[in-house]
Amino acid sequence: MRETATSATDSRAPSIRHVRRRSALISLALCCASTCALATPPVPLVAPPASSIPAGPLGAAINLGQSIVVNSQRFAKAYVGNGLNCASCHLDAGRTPYAAPLVGLTGVFPEYRSRRGGVESLEQRINDCFVRSMNGRALPTGSAEMIGVLAYIAWLSQGVPVGTEVIGRGFRELAPPAQRPDQARGKTLYVQKCAVCHGATGQGLVGAANAFVFPPLWGARSFNTGAGMARVSIAAAFVQAKMPLGNAGTLTDQEAHDIAAYFTAQPRPRFAGAAGDWPKGERPADAR
Ligand code: HEC
Ligand code: HEC
Repeated sequence: MRETATSATDSRAPSIRHVRRRSALISLALCCASTCALATPPVPLVAPPASSIPAGPLGAAINLGQSIVVNSQRFAKAYVGNGLNCASCHLDAGRTPYAAPLVGLTGVFPEYRSRRGGVESLEQRINDCFVRSMNGRALPTGSAEMIGVLAYIAWLSQGVPVGTEVIGRGFRELAPPAQRPDQARGKTLYVQKCAVCHGATGQGLVGAANAFVFPPLWGARSFNTGAGMARVSIAAAFVQAKMPLGNAGTLTDQEAHDIAAYFTAQPRPRFAGAAGDWPKGERPADAR
């Protein structure tokens, strides 16, 4: 069972190559010119060494937060409704550029988000992932779990100036595909390139102690329809940059869109609050 942040991705994927550098550094999904109030240019993403976690109660909170991110199944069990961990998507426990890193977030929240139609706190953003990506329920304010996740993100964010983003925040936005994303082409590619780990029916692979070694992409134990990953544009950006694990960067943008169109459309838990999203009418075309 994985309880620390560093090793797992690396051991399964010794040859992850640096993905292509493309133009947009800041994901449209997270921060648009019209809504983003940040004035300073982004800074490189540098995660602090694990040895800099202090001793004592603060260190214990940071460690709890890191454990929740890496192994949500165990350390935030009561709040998780599927088989995922935060680090299933926030790779290397939130240290990986263009996989929605957690580094640098403490100083950029509260911020405006069009999905909410208002300014939201980092706590609210964390709970968005609990209720959508994790198909679970919100951590109570002041709970040891919420304090832990906030402490971990604050520790990861040390050195990033307040009001400044890291390079690689969010996902690297892909250009719109030349051809409409095609689920049939996506299915063929999925079988060739993804099914070996995520399973022919997207169910993932369960290992020791009933924990997923490879997380599910659809079905009852996956993210729900309200999750960012359920949107074709976001799923394609993540997949193009980070999958297949160990061969990241090998898919064309078109292939990533086709595969994303396929797996996001498969059956998954329904998010009950979807009707309240984008209340100001900025609902993206690929929202479920
Ligand atoms: C299924 C994939 C997935 C899982 C699992 C997941 N997230 Fe996320 N997370 C995302 C995506 C996608 C985004 C941003 C995309 C969007 O919604 O626009 C995001 C964004 C975030 C952000 C804001 C990042 C930013 O730059 O503003 C935080 C904080 C966050 N997640 C925390 C968590 C925590 C804590 C967990 C575990 C309890 C978690 N996430 C689990 C996919 C996931
Ligand atoms: C070598 C095994 C492997 C292959 C091949 C692979 N993945 Fe993954 N994938 C993983 C692992 C492992 C994670 C979770 C990250 C972690 O635990 O470090 C993951 C995470 C994901 C996630 C986010 C978590 C979730 O369950 O939603 C998505 C989406 C995803 N992969 C899509 C794909 C797609 C699409 C392909 C094919 C193009 C693919 N993967 C190929 C191993 C693999």
